[in-house]
Amino acid sequence: MTHIALLPGDGIGPEIVGAGKRVLDAAGDFTYEEHLVGGASIDAAGTALTDEVLGACRLSDAVLLGAVGGPKWDTTDPGAPRPEQGLLGLRKGLGLFANLRPVRPSPALTASSPMRPEVIAGTDLLVVRELTGGIYFGEKTRTATSAGDHCVYEADEIERIARVAFESAGRRSRRVTSVDKANVLETSRLWREVVTVVAKDYPEVELDHILVDNAAMQLVANPSRFDVIVTENMFGDILSDEAAMLTGSLGMLPSASLGGDGPGLFEPVHGSAPDIAGQGVANPLATFLSVAMLLRDGLGLADEAARVERAVDAVLAKGLRTADLATDAEGERRVGTEEITETVLGAL
Ligand code: IPM
Ligand code: MG
Repeated sequence: MTHIALLPGDGIGPEIVGAGKRVLDAAGDFTYEEHLVGGASIDAAGTALTDEVLGACRLSDAVLLGAVGGPKWDTTDPGAPRPEQGLLGLRKGLGLFANLRPVRPSPALTASSPMRPEVIAGTDLLVVRELTGGIYFGEKTRTATSAGDHCVYEADEIERIARVAFESAGRRSRRVTSVDKANVLETSRLWREVVTVVAKDYPEVELDHILVDNAAMQLVANPSRFDVIVTENMFGDILSDEAAMLTGSLGMLPSASLGGDGPGLFEPVHGSAPDIAGQGVANPLATFLSVAMLLRDGLGLADEAARVERAVDAVLAKGLRTADLATDAEGERRVGTEEITETVLGAL
């Protein structure tokens, strides 16, 4: 039987993962086990990710994660545990170097985006973010008056993420934009060289290189110019939040983290939203779309994945809107987590 590890995490995590489990149940026959991660694990075990939980995830067929973090655990003390270490430990521990964040604005949500409709029209892009290297995982130094974060990339780390990008582009519009800061950073110059060499193996895919500041500008000025964006860990973190707003809300963006020889990890891009936790108003749609990625990319269940995506589209087309998406236009109805989940289950 296919076994799914559920990691609700903190804040709205338990609400959205609870809703996500109901969608999984409607899409197939799975067994589940729930585990603590992030702040919840710090409270229970003193660390954001225990060896037992990492081991249990390794043995599962796929991992669905909610979100981690919250003011309770915010600290600048370098010695104190942080919720984010749970997520970073899972990514590293499961070897998930490839993070896929597809951005496809739903036509029903055009009015929810802060962008003008004519600017977002035709946007359909995929951020391929390197997830286990770079400044996130380099050596950290700290004294009372000085701090350092070392950014290192090995050529083989760049090559394998570049291959994911080119192969994804081959199934899409065959364009890869590699984003770096090669005018300043040594890691970016190596990045650019390696991506250029890998591109020779994919002659059907067009490659361009742009600097990250320019990419940030073009994402809001001309988002439809992009097909696949491939970039290093931190640039991908920042650009994917920016790109998410093209869909109307950070509450709509799913992600898949892949690449290890074990299970993939699937999670919404948004955070734990502690300000609205426990109120029943969180938008579970990014989690449902992450469930769709889990079905397709994690378990090879493409038809089931498409059914979930269609159900989400249908509910938006009906005018149901959680608070983050609401514009209070005619035909819209504000709903909470429970009602939008019920309606998606009905559409399924
Ligand atoms: C993300 C998040 C994480 C990241 C945090 C919570 C560590 O922002 O998945 O984008 O920076 O990768
Ligand atoms: Mg982020």
